[in-house]
Amino acid sequence: MSNILYITASIRPDSESISRGLGQRLVDGLAATSGAAVTTRHLAANDLPYVSAERFAANLTPAADRTAEQAQLAAIADTLIAELQAADTIVIASPIYNFGPPASLKAWADLVARAGTTFRYTATGPEGLLTGKRAYIAIASGGTPVGAEFDFMSRWLTFFLGFIGITDVAIVAADGIMGADGEAKIAAAQDAAQKLAA
Ligand SMILES: Cc1cc2nc3c(=O)[nH]c(=O)nc-3n(C[C@H](O)[C@H](O)[C@H](O)COP(=O)(O)O)c2cc1C
Repeated sequence: MSNILYITASIRPDSESISRGLGQRLVDGLAATSGAAVTTRHLAANDLPYVSAERFAANLTPAADRTAEQAQLAAIADTLIAELQAADTIVIASPIYNFGPPASLKAWADLVARAGTTFRYTATGPEGLLTGKRAYIAIASGGTPVGAEFDFMSRWLTFFLGFIGITDVAIVAADGIMGADGEAKIAAAQDAAQKLAA
């Protein structure tokens, strides 16, 4: 392992975010054992654009063929994709918002899914191109249990990562923390994150 990409999506500061507390434990542990460099992408602080027809077309146009306007529109997706390509380990820390991912994480996915670059179409169906990487997902939720029928966050994110070729995925969750045993659940998840990263 030489490069860790750390993506966070909570709107809360470090001192309050449970998902980022888990994600940071994973990153610290993984970096300590491997000496890997860490690139951090805080999505909530970055105001990623939503994909539009123009941006989508620019993203799919080969760099050499883009107009100046298209080059500008595609620049952020180019950067996000380069971050993914350079990483051999990806840590994503995210809450569940309204039973799914935060909008910023969905915006990120809409930008990095680029046919011909991060996945491709084949005669037998789509094929992910970002192979040979490992991902860790750190999730926090107030009441939604990870893996529940109405958890569209972990299921979507795991499927999406697989779609772009990242099939080796481990999940650590502090879920349902608004309940009476919330503190114990957070402590158990922190412990699990530390062990997973060791
Ligand atoms: C806009 C918003 C929507 C939320 N929706 C859900 C939800 O659907 N299910 C749930 O269990 N918790 C929900 N929560 C609670 C968060 O998942 C919970 O507070 C979690 O700890 C947030 O992650 P963080 O601590 O990393 O910020 C929501 C919180 C916010 C701010």
